[in-house]
Amino acid sequence: MCGIVGIISSKEVTGRILNSLKKLEYRGYDSAGIATLVEGNINEVKCEGRVEVLEKDITKFNLKGDIGIGHVRWATHGKPSKINAHPHSSEHVSVVHNGIIENSTILKKFLEKKGYEFKSQTDTEVIAHLVTEYLKKNSIKDTIIKVLKRLHGSFALGIIFKGQSNLMVGAKRGSPLAVGYGPNENYIGSDSYALKSMTNKISYLDDGEFCIIKKDQIEFFGTEGTKINKKVMNLSKDAIDYDKGDYKYFMEKEIDEQPSTITACINEYIDKHNKQINIYNFPWKISSIESVMLIGCGTAFHSCLMAKYWMEQNTNLDVSVDIASEFRYRKVKFKKNCLYIVVSQSGETADTHAALDLCKRNKMKTCAVVNVIESSIARDADLVLPIYCGQEVGVASTKAFIGQMLVLYILSTKISFDQKCISRKEYQAKVDNLLKLSNAAKKTLKLDQKIFNVGKTFADAKGSMFLGRGYSFPIALEGALKLKELAYVHAEGYPAGEMKHGPLALIEEGMPVVVLAPRDEHYKKTISNMQEVIARGAKVLLITNNNKDEVISENIWEKIEVDQLDDELIPFLMTIPLQKLAFYSALEKGYDIDKPRNLAKSVTVE
Ligand code: G6P
Repeated sequence: MCGIVGIISSKEVTGRILNSLKKLEYRGYDSAGIATLVEGNINEVKCEGRVEVLEKDITKFNLKGDIGIGHVRWATHGKPSKINAHPHSSEHVSVVHNGIIENSTILKKFLEKKGYEFKSQTDTEVIAHLVTEYLKKNSIKDTIIKVLKRLHGSFALGIIFKGQSNLMVGAKRGSPLAVGYGPNENYIGSDSYALKSMTNKISYLDDGEFCIIKKDQIEFFGTEGTKINKKVMNLSKDAIDYDKGDYKYFMEKEIDEQPSTITACINEYIDKHNKQINIYNFPWKISSIESVMLIGCGTAFHSCLMAKYWMEQNTNLDVSVDIASEFRYRKVKFKKNCLYIVVSQSGETADTHAALDLCKRNKMKTCAVVNVIESSIARDADLVLPIYCGQEVGVASTKAFIGQMLVLYILSTKISFDQKCISRKEYQAKVDNLLKLSNAAKKTLKLDQKIFNVGKTFADAKGSMFLGRGYSFPIALEGALKLKELAYVHAEGYPAGEMKHGPLALIEEGMPVVVLAPRDEHYKKTISNMQEVIARGAKVLLITNNNKDEVISENIWEKIEVDQLDDELIPFLMTIPLQKLAFYSALEKGYDIDKPRNLAKSVTVE
């Protein structure tokens, strides 16, 4: 999704803007651009494609400047092209924008009547002209107040002004914007990661706020222009140096890191000595919670679905799950004793944030399961349960999915014990099992070669299916999503028992089908469903857990056996081969694994 950077300094900024844009690449984008002021005049360089292309163009055009804004664009209004790339400039101002201006058509008509000419198809260009129009009769500060009031929708903005080399403006509604403090220079960025190589001192704008940034001063204002003070946060240094190491792709590294991220998360939440779960900051009496609503998007939604199975199994809670973009627009009947849990790796997903906001406006109890602890969602929820995965760069989520499931499983186990649904012995047995998870994940990673071999078949397939029952159903959905995201192969996750009600018609000779059949209570039924697809010509990759005594079927194309572990924890192990399968299928096709087409890591528009 779009990313913004801005630097005001007394030193050359283009190189550093480029570096920060590279840090924002993980969000997913299709074009890039930079504008700077040179002797007070706006100069811009834009391109379709990657920041490397922009870098070459900047060298070619010798773009310089001590103040500048940069942008990576993920197309919403208008196709990816040089002309639609940001910044968008009038003769007087240059603007970078993340978000969507919903009333851009009306504003465009208003501006066209006044004689403004539009070059791009974007919604953003109206901002540049609107600012120009208001500047005719107003100061910069009053212009910003007036312009922001006229914009509907969501935005994070960075604006520079012709002839004003001493200041830059940042503004936010909906989309995130961080403001960074440096030595005789200051910054804006879509997230702290973009600014981390320059500073660890950050403030976040809240909705409706804007700031005027000079190299030695930052002033913050509320919607009406009243001066406000902002908290300065000192960021942890842990994610600063996150790089690919010896790996070619971040995603590959992130998959392989999972045993250690499991350990890191467990170390935060589990007291190994007393065999108990530590969630000290729970602000409510656990016994008072009667129901749970879990909300997320994409992979995070799948971890929510997984948690439903665990919570229903182990607690007395009434558990519901919803996709954030649906939840926020339904006429939800809020319940006083319900805990609303939003799950988000980035903590910035617009729909998930809006769902949280809705819960808060209805005065509900809210909990956020996030990876980025400085994120908007983390800042707004009553209780934050971090997943402690470290930065995830690959657009397709892997280690964060494992981390989300882990935290939700830990929470479910804690509620289960505190609500007296399980005995202390059962509770400690669950904690003991969790301590075995990292090692079992490590062993699962070693099944690599087999998955590599089947990857080619999935890569070449027209379509594929991922089947599972019970705990394996959410994992089937996640496996299918990974293959879609990375290898661009149509893949459907389905409850194995539902195949005969329609999707069985899709099975044809040679179609690759993944069947997830751990040896749990559903095992026999899932194996029967597997036979039904094999009988219709499917090539089945069976993923199960090992049992030396039994030969299941000779008609299985390939079989992968993960370790034996408690049934409830098998989903973690089943996930790993599916991540690898998608990875190898995409590798086979030579696709951009860390940045799949059309997708974004941080989805800050609805
Ligand atoms: C995007 C990403 C997915 C992610 C989803 C939700 O679509 O590409 O990998 O699962 O957003 O993101 P979140 O940061 O809220 O977990």
